[in-house]
Amino acid sequence: MTINVQLIKNYIRHFFTAKRRGHGVHSPFAYRLCEEVFYTEVHFFHFEELAKVRQQLLSNHTSVAFQEFGAGSKSLKGQTRKISDIAKKGISSRKQSELLYRLINFLNAKNSLELGTSLGLNTLYMASVNSANRVISIEGNPSLSQFAAGMAKQYQRNNIDFLRGGFDELLPRLLGDNTTIDFIYVDGNHTYEATLNYFKMAMAGKKPNSVFVFDDIYWSEGMTNAWQEISRHPEVKMSLDLFYMGILFFRDEIKEPVHLKLFI
Ligand SMILES: C[S@@+](CC[C@H](N)C(=O)[O-])C[C@H]1O[C@@H](n2cnc3c(N)ncnc32)[C@H](O)[C@@H]1O
Repeated sequence: MTINVQLIKNYIRHFFTAKRRGHGVHSPFAYRLCEEVFYTEVHFFHFEELAKVRQQLLSNHTSVAFQEFGAGSKSLKGQTRKISDIAKKGISSRKQSELLYRLINFLNAKNSLELGTSLGLNTLYMASVNSANRVISIEGNPSLSQFAAGMAKQYQRNNIDFLRGGFDELLPRLLGDNTTIDFIYVDGNHTYEATLNYFKMAMAGKKPNSVFVFDDIYWSEGMTNAWQEISRHPEVKMSLDLFYMGILFFRDEIKEPVHLKLFI
């Protein structure tokens, strides 16, 4: 097992410097997010169903063909992978998935995009918020995308389009088609260059209320540097560093740029 010393150092720094439970958060918009998204006890009724789906994935030992995409996994290797191993090591935790759900619900997003479907569990969370939220999810590995589409059918989430192919190839086509996307969740290809590239492409189609979420911002030095750079882009009005993900807002109502680290 390789120990990611830099990740541990960053976590310790985050632990000691991040704000807790909204204390010291002066921006009214950020405070509302703390109250209604990050530190709320509100439990949505989909959460139990989706937690059961997660359990089923964790106990599904069938294998799928595997083709490495993006920066790849630090712990999983080989041509085939068990669903249970991917569910254990390659997808967001329950806490993170529920936060994503609450965030989409708070924003009332209607057109969401996920880069990196994997088994499609977060896709189900995103689509469950509201059947009026149209979700597009892109995945380069066809067997994973197929598996995820099967799950969406099984759980009757009809508001998802699964696209198979590389982000670099599909994203420009999607954004160039005048498709309005108000929520973008980037959870794949965690490298410095790719992250800056997806940010740049997403910026070309952004609206004032668009929200971009980047997962694993401390996964590697490249990701940490990419986060530092994109969160300080002059058009970003607010950046929220939650350690395991970073969130960017562009709202005109935020007059002075706000950059916060939150411990959740
Ligand atoms: C961390 S997983 C996504 C997890 C998922 N969002 C969840 O938590 O339920 C990242 C996925 O992105 C895919 N991926 C990485 N780079 C890609 C690229 N350049 N094009 C297409 N898919 C890519 C990988 O195959 C992998 O399945």
